[in-house]
Amino acid sequence: MTDKQTPLESPLRLTVGNLKGGVARSTTSIMLALALVKRTGQRVLLVDADAANGTSFEWSEYAGEVWPAEVNVVYLPSQMLGKRVREMWPEGHLIIDTGNDSTTLRQALMVTDHLVMPIGATPSEATRLTPTLQAAAEVASIKPIELSILFTRTKPNTISFREAWDQLKQMEGEVEGLHVLDVNVPFQLLYSQAFGTVPTNLGVYPDVLEEILAGGSK
Ligand SMILES: Nc1ncnc2c1ncn2[C@@H]1O[C@H](COP(=O)(O)OP(=O)(O)OP(=O)(O)O)[C@@H](O)[C@H]1O
Ligand SMILES: [Mg+2]
Repeated sequence: MTDKQTPLESPLRLTVGNLKGGVARSTTSIMLALALVKRTGQRVLLVDADAANGTSFEWSEYAGEVWPAEVNVVYLPSQMLGKRVREMWPEGHLIIDTGNDSTTLRQALMVTDHLVMPIGATPSEATRLTPTLQAAAEVASIKPIELSILFTRTKPNTISFREAWDQLKQMEGEVEGLHVLDVNVPFQLLYSQAFGTVPTNLGVYPDVLEEILAGGSK
């Protein structure tokens, strides 16, 4: 991977989570990990912590030899996730792909600074974010955590996207530390056909990464 690369001074440690599944958590984890390596040239640990299916891990396995050595993907659907991650990778860039289990999500949040919540662009999906926000609030009572909402599989200019956007923007004002990312991921084959590959075109994910990195200074 050779692009203009600038190492980051402090590591990005984030969890990709939404207790409602099928919202592009794994796709987002993989694409952000690849974007991060492209951006920084630094190593990333991608932990697949989803006990129900190891999509991220399988993705990298399918890619085989073309998978970049800088992105180390491990399958860790462990009760001891927090402890294992601290032992394995106490510093450095870390992305944790989580599943539908709230205990795992809370453990992931304990070893990361940021939760990125992919969400489908319909108002009902916004309502179903509540258990995820509750888990995040429990952790936030112990340590600070930034919260970002990422709309995925969006169809621009639809009423349902606009309604979901308005609903989440309202929530942004009500939930401490919550931020709705400006960049959203459109519904495109580029993403749905990416499984098992290392796409040269990462779509909007490099922009998502930039917005996350800029987050603290907003
Ligand atoms: N932007 C997109 N456009 C079209 N399809 C997408 C997009 N992002 C993800 N998908 C597809 O949506 C499906 C769910 O994505 P993904 O597996 O990343 O979600 P998940 O939240 O990890 O799901 P799971 O509940 O299985 O863990 C997959 O078939 C994926 O290819
Ligand atoms: Mg998944």
